[in-house]
Amino acid sequence: MTSYDGPSRYGFLECNSPIAAWRLDRQVEECAAAQPRVIVDIGCGWGELLQRVTAKVPGAKAYGIDSDLELLERGRAGAAARGIADRLEFVEYQGADWTEPADLVISIGAVHAFGTAVDALRELYKIVKPGGRLLIGDGVWNRVATETELAAMWPGTKPSDWLLLPEFVNAAIATGFRPLRVESVEQSEWDDFESQFLADKEVWLLANPGHPRAAEVREQADAHRDWWLRGHRGLLGFAYLTLGRPVE
Ligand SMILES: C[S@@+](CC[C@H](N)C(=O)[O-])C[C@H]1O[C@@H](n2cnc3c(N)ncnc32)[C@H](O)[C@@H]1O
Repeated sequence: MTSYDGPSRYGFLECNSPIAAWRLDRQVEECAAAQPRVIVDIGCGWGELLQRVTAKVPGAKAYGIDSDLELLERGRAGAAARGIADRLEFVEYQGADWTEPADLVISIGAVHAFGTAVDALRELYKIVKPGGRLLIGDGVWNRVATETELAAMWPGTKPSDWLLLPEFVNAAIATGFRPLRVESVEQSEWDDFESQFLADKEVWLLANPGHPRAAEVREQADAHRDWWLRGHRGLLGFAYLTLGRPVE
């Protein structure tokens, strides 16, 4: 998980989004229970959820779409290890350009690939087959942030970067979906996610304190921890919406 040259990347994360093991298990069960024949995950990363759902639905054809080759390679290795590489293709592609309709569309933490959450819902609706489902996850404000709070978050954070949860759900309904499940993560899921995200750097720093890159890596880790603990913690939630597109 660590190398002398630099920290690993996402080496301690099972999914690249805040999610507890029990919630991931339930999402996999619910996605698989709908027996989708075609599945696509836009902004899949290495597609842990996608891999698990595909493995549970024999005969389903699945596509994982991402612009990051390194993450796609991790996905391909995972699919091969699960014996589903013949049914699950990881494709390097711009998420917003994918037009192949699917019975189950997944898109988690990737609304920025479309613009805003409203843009993402509108574009994703077009590739959910009538009668199909969308599982979409992204950040939601727990409440309206003040200017001071915004300034403590990642540089350039704006109020328009996320919606409040009711706005996110209403935007889905306005797009034409019906909500089957609305869930938002506990603070512990965010804390676990940020801790595991930082673990690549922290474990590497412990093993390589005198490395020429150590000061830079330490500075990046400390800045990120401040954006979390002094910035978004308690202010930014993360919601998963399971949405149905009505039959025609
Ligand atoms: C926060 S990660 C979430 C990954 C995955 N959905 C998960 O939950 O583990 C967002 C992903 O979106 C991908 N992404 C960002 N912009 C993209 C784009 N324009 N087209 C395709 N993928 C994109 C990133 O490479 C990254 O893997």
